[in-house]
This record gives sequence, C-alpha cells and structure tokens, in this order.
Amino acid sequence: MMRTRPLKVALLGCGVVGSEVARIMATHADDLAARIGAPLELAGVAVRRPSKVREGIDPALITTDATALVKRGDIDVVVEVIGGIEPARTLITTAFEHGASVVSANKALLAEDGATLFAAAERHGKDLYYEAAVAGAIPLLRPLRESLAGDKVNRVLGIVNGTTNFILDRMDSSGAGYSEALDEATALGYAEADPTADVEGFDAAAKAAILAGIAFHTRVRLDDVHREGLTEVTAADIASARRMGCTVKLLAICERAADGKSVTARVHPAMIPLSHPLASVREAYNAVFVEAEAAGQLMFYGPGAGGPPTASAVLGDLVAVCRNRIGESTGPGESAYTRLPVSSMAEVVTRYHISLDVADKPGVLAQVATVFAEHDVSIDTVRQQGRLDSAGLGGEASLVVVTHRAPDAALSGTVEALRKLDTVRGVASIMRVEGE
Ligand code: NDP
Ligand code: HSE
Repeated sequence: MMRTRPLKVALLGCGVVGSEVARIMATHADDLAARIGAPLELAGVAVRRPSKVREGIDPALITTDATALVKRGDIDVVVEVIGGIEPARTLITTAFEHGASVVSANKALLAEDGATLFAAAERHGKDLYYEAAVAGAIPLLRPLRESLAGDKVNRVLGIVNGTTNFILDRMDSSGAGYSEALDEATALGYAEADPTADVEGFDAAAKAAILAGIAFHTRVRLDDVHREGLTEVTAADIASARRMGCTVKLLAICERAADGKSVTARVHPAMIPLSHPLASVREAYNAVFVEAEAAGQLMFYGPGAGGPPTASAVLGDLVAVCRNRIGESTGPGESAYTRLPVSSMAEVVTRYHISLDVADKPGVLAQVATVFAEHDVSIDTVRQQGRLDSAGLGGEASLVVVTHRAPDAALSGTVEALRKLDTVRGVASIMRVEGE
C-alpha cells in the first residue's frame, strides 16, 4: 500500500553525479514511489556555488548551508555526493545524529575513515549504503555483502577506475597522448575533482580497501593498500606489452593469503595477456573478478564512471534505504569480525617484466642472469635488442626480462643489485605481469 507522506531526501552536492540523481528522481518519480511504497520529495540541495544554473532543480531548494540541511530533523535520507573527507564526514555523522540514513558515493572517505561512519550509523540505528563508491553502475558491493555472505571469498581482482582505463585504452588503441586522453576523460565526467586521485591510483586504492574489507570481513584502510599509479607507464611499456601478446591495465588486487591468516590489497599497472577477459575492457568500463570457495569465479562488468551510471547505483541504494525506513528496519552494517592483518607488498608473489638498458658487450647477459639467480628469482624469457650509437657502432642494448612468480621483496632486491652493475645503464621500467 502506498504511503502518502513522502520520504524527504537531502542531496549534498549537485555536480556530475548529484545532478543525475536529481534528474532521475524527478523523471522517474512515479516508478520510484511505486517501488518504494511512498513518494520521494527532494527537500534541499546543498552546493558550493548557489548562483550556478541547475536545470530541472527548483532554485528555492538550493542552499550553501549543508549543515543546516542535515540538521533539519525531518530528512529521511541524506545523499552525499560532494566527495572528499571534510565536510562530507561531519555532514554524514551529523545526518545520523539527526535521524537520517545516508547514501554515499564517497570512496575516499569510506576508505580513509569508514569505521567512524559505520559506528555512527550503528549508534543511531540508521543505514549507510555506498554501492556507487566502487565500480560505478556495477552491482558489486551488495552481491559481495549479501549474495556471497555464505561463501568464502579468496580473491578480488579487477579494473576499478574508469578514468585510467580510458587513458590506457586511448593510448593503446589510438596512440593518443596521456594528457589528451586525461582531458577527454575529465570532460566526460569520469575523473575525480582532482584527477591526481585517478592517475596516481588513490581512487582505485580506496576502492580496493572497500572491496577487501567487505570480501574478507575485516577492516582495510587506504594506507594498507600498496599503490602505484599510471603516471610512470610509457608508450614503450605499452608497445613492449603488445610484443608479448599483452596489454597494460591498472589493476586492483585483493587476496587472502594461502594460510588464510592475512590479506593483501594492491593497486598497480600490470601487463595482462590479450586473451584475458580484462584485456577487452575498453574506455571507462570496469570489470571485477571475484573468486569464492564454493561459487568459483564470478565476473562483474559494466560502466565504471560517469554521471548516469553512478546515479543508477545511488538510486538503487536510495530505494533500498527508503524501503528499510518504511519497514522500520536497517540493512546489514559493517562486518569486520575476522580482524585479519594486512600484509605488505613485499610478501606478494607475482611475475615481473623488467626492461633494462645495458652495455652491448660479451658477458652482460650472464651477469644480469646471475643477479636474478642470486636473489632466487627465476627467469622465464629474455629478449635483447641491440641499438646502434650515433657513430653507427653497437653500444647499448635493451634487455627485457620476464620472470616466473617471485616475492616482491626478492624482485626489489634484484633490481637494486642490477642498478649497481656497471654494465646496466638504467632500469627503464618494471611492471608486474598478471592474469596468466
Ligand atoms: P563534482 O565535483 O562534479 O560535484 C561535487 C558537488 O559537490 C558539486 O555540486 C559542488 O558544488 C558540491 N560541493 C563541493 N563542496 C561542497 C561543500 N562544501 N558544500 C556543499 N556542496 C559542495 O563531483 P562528482 O559528482 O563527480 O562526484 C561526487 C562524488 O561521487 C565523489 O565522492 C566521487 O568520488 C563520487 N563518484 C563519482 C563518480 C563519477 O564518475 N564522477 C563515480 C563514482 C563515485 P558546486 O556544484 O557548486 O561546485
Ligand atoms: N574517477 C572515478 C573513476 C569515478 O574514474 O573510476 C568512478 O568511481
């Protein structure tokens, strides 16, 4: 039966995501009311620049006083799509204190200080939903938290940042330059307010922390995630990957240790074979593999960024939270009972692609191979290409070594030792190889 009293929604932020949330709330009002069992009323919209024209939004609803809006006391659900740590954190906790549930897309805040938010939600008996925080439109957190609640997840691996996937895809497929591709991703609304968060891997690391926390029922913070962005990836790396039948992707990988006693979470560029399903994830799409003990391997795929896809996930949460509200219940809160420690990157075992500039003379290959052997890193393949110097004489060569699986600490030791060799002029790039 339809309730006539509307549920009041306060929208904090009306940018790329917020404007789409408001638009869908208005255009799908009747369907949303039927699905929830009560109409939704947009009760206020907090922004930074009140004079900006916002199509389809009653100017009387616009305010710059987000604090007053969340303190009104008659708000049922606060939708936080401002981003960043403050004032978002204080606004969310204040919303709980004043009786509202919260839907947020703010992965940076959840990864930095989710504990404070979950505790506040629990203390006040309210919901905190955040499906949009990871992988845009893809229903991923709810399946992990609810559908797989009876299984044991051992690994989550995927592409979780649309902007960087868009950049790498453009660089690989059309030979576009890095800056040009980043500008395009920003114009399309994929990038964060500060795109450094995307290209330096902070955004993907925040998502990895959230995913690892839910998957392994433990607390993982942004600082626990090993992070490397894509700013060091060169056109030469991409070309080298192609020669190996691979492509370069920025991956987020969360793993439970074989003994089950710890977990790791990392974000870094990696080469993956062109035959791997992740290799065909184009533009700003995301794809995530979840490996669970009983379920086996599951793949989630879809648009990972942008206003409408993200608003879809926010609206899904809004409907769920409103239904809970009407039923005077709440959804599942934080599950962090395993308290598993997060191990460092040094303990991660994977394969590596190392590109070295070396002197092109007898014995160099043997010297390099000895360093790998001394650090117990086994070589899979070596490719050498000589380069002529300006006088047309041989002088330098490029050596590309791909290893078998080895611990990250052993690889770091190898590279350090290689740098000390007189015959090694430089380490041009080091990239992990995944997905084989
Ligand atoms: P935008 O920068 O486009 O929008 C931010 C909005 O917040 C703007 O409306 C801005 O006001 C408002 N705002 C900023 N500071 C304040 C403040 N102090 N008080 C009130 N309002 C404020 O960001 P997005 O919409 O792209 O992102 C919002 C959130 O969603 C972030 O957490 C982001 O990480 C997340 N997200 C974004 C995705 C995307 O594809 N864009 C995908 C998934 C999640 P004004 O309009 O006046 O500038
Ligand atoms: N900047 C983010 C991305 C938005 O590019 O994936 C979606 O979370």
